[in-house]
Amino acid sequence: MVSLIPNIRTQTIPGPGSVDLARRLKAVECSEITFLSSDFPVFWRSADGCLITDVDGNTFLDATSSFGAMGVGHGHPRVQASIERQASILVHGMGDVHPSEVKVRLLERIAQFSPIPNSRIILGQNGSDAVEAALKTARLATGRRNVLSFEGGYHGLSYGALEVTARSFFREPFADQLAGIGSLLPYACDPQRVVDALAADPEIGAVIVEPIQGRAGIRIPPAGWLAHVKEACAAAGALLILDEIFTGWGRTGWWFACKHDKVAPDLLCVGKAMGGGMAISACIGSQDLMEAAWGTGSTGEARHTYTFLGQPLACAAACAAIEAIHLDKLVTRSREVGERLLADLNAMAGGHSDLVAAVRGRGLMIGVELRDRQRVWPAVVAALRRGLIVLPAGDAGNVIEIVPPFVIAPEQTSFLVSVLDECLTLVR
Ligand SMILES: Cc1ncc(COP(=O)(O)O)c(C=O)c1O
Repeated sequence: MVSLIPNIRTQTIPGPGSVDLARRLKAVECSEITFLSSDFPVFWRSADGCLITDVDGNTFLDATSSFGAMGVGHGHPRVQASIERQASILVHGMGDVHPSEVKVRLLERIAQFSPIPNSRIILGQNGSDAVEAALKTARLATGRRNVLSFEGGYHGLSYGALEVTARSFFREPFADQLAGIGSLLPYACDPQRVVDALAADPEIGAVIVEPIQGRAGIRIPPAGWLAHVKEACAAAGALLILDEIFTGWGRTGWWFACKHDKVAPDLLCVGKAMGGGMAISACIGSQDLMEAAWGTGSTGEARHTYTFLGQPLACAAACAAIEAIHLDKLVTRSREVGERLLADLNAMAGGHSDLVAAVRGRGLMIGVELRDRQRVWPAVVAALRRGLIVLPAGDAGNVIEIVPPFVIAPEQTSFLVSVLDECLTLVR
């Protein structure tokens, strides 16, 4: 039987094969894209479940779910079979003209699990596509130009999404090209500030928010906060756009985090885990809202589409991923495994109280916040050397993000906790 526990074979990490690929990559890729240094990254060759095998034959535990996209795990048999079947019959279709059969199946599946009754859906490829579709929909439905978002919020980096993504690192170089439709409030602020902001600017037609902030370091608002934001939106005639691109499809131990908060979004953005590893996303609204925005019938030329909208391979993967989450009961698993992992991480952090400021999470969306951000990167590198892939998060880079696939096995969560324990001792 293949071991579920990572195995480091090379004397150094990255191993010689990764070092050579880094040299070749540096010669051809724009330097902005992949971070290359003497101790990072490793180059992947294959993956199975939660384990990654690099080009040197080392194996690693993927506690990032590859940016949250591999909720069902790498190479899930149902997803793999669905992609292979689809690849043998139709790889590409015409998104908004002569659509593929599998696109219809996917839309039906999304509607079946959507928390919005009578859903109407716009597909995209990346999370930022879903956000842009939601921003356009809100503009059309309300006739208002501006959007309120929150500090720490991450909604993608394409120009429309960048309007509402908060971190200045991403925005500054392009600030003079942005239309300036966005304004910001602190995340989890006094809800009265949302009421006041909406009253002060009647041009705000939408509020976009993550139910739990992911890239900002797994920040969880107090109970009831999201419901207050929804109330403020409803009172001001603004739409609530929930960005569940990270939190959706079981990540937090709920199908959607809004279910936990008992908040009904006007528009819902999803992506990542839905695709089972393929690039696909969706903006979801009710029939009434979508028709108010876009009308009741096509004019013959779609105002919002892509060449690869509803790409059949991605649709097939997403149908299978949603099926896997449903049939393998991965939402419950995420909740139960997440609760145990959170408890184990808290117990482990008790031995590092000088270093660890907080351990927090819901389901398999967990953050370990360190008091000193300078210790985070050394801990991430030390973990990689021991076969554990984690990433830093937080605007200050002070959080170790732990978001493993929902299928993580008990021996793998034990490995994760013990490696983190060792790494925190090491970076003292
Ligand atoms: C909450 C949230 N929204 C939007 C995005 C953007 O998605 P993408 O990188 O697929 O464009 C991300 C990506 O991390 C995200 O976490």
